[in-house]
Amino acid sequence: MTIEIETNSKEETIELGKKISKFLFPGSVITLNGDLGAGKTTITKGIGKGLGIEEEINSPTFNILKCYFNDKLNLFHIDAYRLEDVSDEGKNIGLEEVIEGNGVAIIEWPQFIEEMIPFSSMNIEIHSLGDNKRQLIFSSLSPKYYALMESIGGKRSA
Ligand SMILES: Nc1ncnc2c1ncn2[C@@H]1O[C@H](COP(=O)(O)OP(=O)(O)OP(=O)(O)O)[C@@H](O)[C@H]1O
Ligand SMILES: [Mg+2]
Repeated sequence: MTIEIETNSKEETIELGKKISKFLFPGSVITLNGDLGAGKTTITKGIGKGLGIEEEINSPTFNILKCYFNDKLNLFHIDAYRLEDVSDEGKNIGLEEVIEGNGVAIIEWPQFIEEMIPFSSMNIEIHSLGDNKRQLIFSSLSPKYYALMESIGGKRSA
């Protein structure tokens, strides 16, 4: 399934993140594609808020993985940007443990750890349409994410 939606401000993208957080479950994996400054970390901030995480979520670039432990669902925020040239072994960041545990994984730059991304995941591709406008394309082949995708009020394109 593929759903497209546009946001017109950073705040709207945060609200969208909050909304989708309500549909996440232990083992959810969300991959985020988009250029530098597209809004990947911004939507992650909204998801964190929606899960009830009080700590500020910032870009994990220099850490690769940041863990936010939380009563409801833990959030594991991964930025694979610096793993582009790393060997396959080095790319093994323990995603299985995340998926098996009570956590949600959100992955920026998933193309650099493609082999690690499970089939049951949902991708959000973010395009800048200039200024504060963004197009977000949600896609997944796993029915586990269909309710989430149908809830956002976007346009169904496939
Ligand atoms: N509609 C919008 N949605 C999200 N962010 C927006 C929007 N309009 C403007 N922005 C701005 O775009 C920037 C998005 O930055 P963000 O850190 O989320 O990008 P990113 O995709 O995570 O980049 P990076 O690849 O560097 O990690 C912020 O400065 C934010 O204020
Ligand atoms: Mg980021």
